[in-house]
Amino acid sequence: MTWEELEGRCRDCRKCSLCQTRTNLVFGTGNRQADILFVGEAPGEQEDLQGIPFVGPAGQLLDLYLESVGIAREQVYIANILKCRPPRNRDPLPEEQDACMVHLREQVKLIRPKMIVCLGRISAMRLIKPDFKITREHGILQKKGDFVMTAVYHPSALLRDASKKEDMYKDMKRIRMYLDEYVDI
Ligand code: URA
Repeated sequence: MTWEELEGRCRDCRKCSLCQTRTNLVFGTGNRQADILFVGEAPGEQEDLQGIPFVGPAGQLLDLYLESVGIAREQVYIANILKCRPPRNRDPLPEEQDACMVHLREQVKLIRPKMIVCLGRISAMRLIKPDFKITREHGILQKKGDFVMTAVYHPSALLRDASKKEDMYKDMKRIRMYLDEYVDI
């Protein structure tokens, strides 16, 4: 499948009802040959309006963390578990996640990243393991199939609770160190 075919498939997708309430599809953005893929939960209001992931307040904070460890947003690929915004930003339902994961899997096949970073609990529970505990297990790097995987706090959680910011910075530095050692980024 090509990128164009996949984006068309997502645009036409009717596997769940979120396509009826979204403004725009939020397909994903960034370097399609990226070594590192960030996966969030679902588009919020700004993302839905602009059709681009992580452009609202949480996205601006994510940009700062990327910058703080010398990673440019253009170097990475950023996507979400869901490609359409859930109404009023409610948590994605399991059946919506099931429906949308087929698209993310195709994106991963096309990108073939070396590392996948889950942004927050929902993404980590979906991509790493169902009982992932973000407060205990954030920042741990583990090999899973062809990828090294890790999860960090969701930037929205940092906006609600500034005491998590120190851990986030440490986790981002660990990701940077891994990339320096094993990936030429
Ligand atoms: N939160 C997410 O999980 N994804 C976005 O794209 C924006 C906010």
